[in-house]
Amino acid sequence: MTVFGVDAVPSAGAGELVVGAKDIVTPLARELARERGITIVVASAGPPSIPATANQSPPPAPAAVAPMFARPSSNGSHTAPPPLAPPAPALYRRGAPLHPAVAPAALHQPRIPRPELTSAAKSVGRVVVVGAGHVGMITAMKLAEANIIAEVVLVDIAEGLAAGIALDLTHSTALLGFDTTIRGVTSLAEAGPADYVVITAGRARQPGMSRTDLVEVNAGIVGALAREAAAISPQTVLLVVTNPLDEMTHHAWQASGLPAERVIGMAGVLDSSRFQALAGLATDSPASTVNALALGSHGDEMVIPLSQARVAGTAITQALPNAQVTALVDRARNSGAEIVGLLKSGSAFFAPGASAARMVLAMATDSDQILPATVRARGQYGITDGYVGLPARLGRNGLREIVEMPLTPDELTAVRTAATRISERVADLERVTAAS
Ligand code: LAC
Repeated sequence: MTVFGVDAVPSAGAGELVVGAKDIVTPLARELARERGITIVVASAGPPSIPATANQSPPPAPAAVAPMFARPSSNGSHTAPPPLAPPAPALYRRGAPLHPAVAPAALHQPRIPRPELTSAAKSVGRVVVVGAGHVGMITAMKLAEANIIAEVVLVDIAEGLAAGIALDLTHSTALLGFDTTIRGVTSLAEAGPADYVVITAGRARQPGMSRTDLVEVNAGIVGALAREAAAISPQTVLLVVTNPLDEMTHHAWQASGLPAERVIGMAGVLDSSRFQALAGLATDSPASTVNALALGSHGDEMVIPLSQARVAGTAITQALPNAQVTALVDRARNSGAEIVGLLKSGSAFFAPGASAARMVLAMATDSDQILPATVRARGQYGITDGYVGLPARLGRNGLREIVEMPLTPDELTAVRTAATRISERVADLERVTAAS
């Protein structure tokens, strides 16, 4: 597969740019070709060539992602998400280098036909997942299987690791019925511009390593990656997964220089899903009928507002005795450690990877869904300025809005305390990184 960018257009001969069926022609290249009267021809061994002109009718919108925390309706089905906007090509171009020949006016055309990126229509050009450990691998797998992204690129500095996993995943495309291209490389530069960059890279705590040691090591890794990702893709959205999650999200935001709306942390989706699973088991109900959001930090200050939690429409505080509900919250809070204890080596990866993919898909489909995420509050919940887990309305460009849900005074205090603790740890981190 070759990606044809704007540079390929001027060199096209005889008014035609001939590309292969699996090749990608970027939207910018298509615009330039149209301006210069160059037809893009898809070469094909079988049927005659199909000119991919600007007049092609747009492909259908991707399937809607069901809302994760929707309250079930009376007939048991979940509330449908809002209708999706028609897929736009702008995402792929977000990270693409601007070509001087493309007039600014062209970039603001209200509706530009979306190219056929591969054999199936895709609404997102490229998602890069950094770190080919278990979490990165599952994230890449879930993203590829969703079949709405043209290319998923896995990046890992360990030679061959990302390439091997990418090839393995590629072998499952026919089996699982998706045609997302999957590539594995050793650097962000090789991965190329991306609409979304998921950072899973980092060290797990080693024996003898303090939490501060871990923070320092991972801050170095995450900071460098965030800076490089923003330089390669200035319009990208960064999703941080590396621990300690809340501090690393703040650090990635600072290092990248990106607006806070485009630097988000993944933890609330995972922690909520864990609570849903545990409450489902405790009440003998499907986890999908448990409605609850995990806010605060991805750690000791995790807050699950029980005033809002429901099981099959009944307040959880009525469905279960208080002591049991408290035990469920504690178990959800410590689920990461519980799994580390069971696995003996390594940490959880299925639910974390699925959660990261879920967040990218919510953004990529411009779903407008409200998912708990680590975001930068600016006055919401009385938190003046700091990253903390809050309900976030997500759209194509990251955070659209922090949603204020009604909390009891105790719940509100707990969320504010989480924000304060995170800010204190961020200040510690800044002192350590400034000193080194
Ligand atoms: C956990 C890690 C991924 O909670 O933070 O399992």
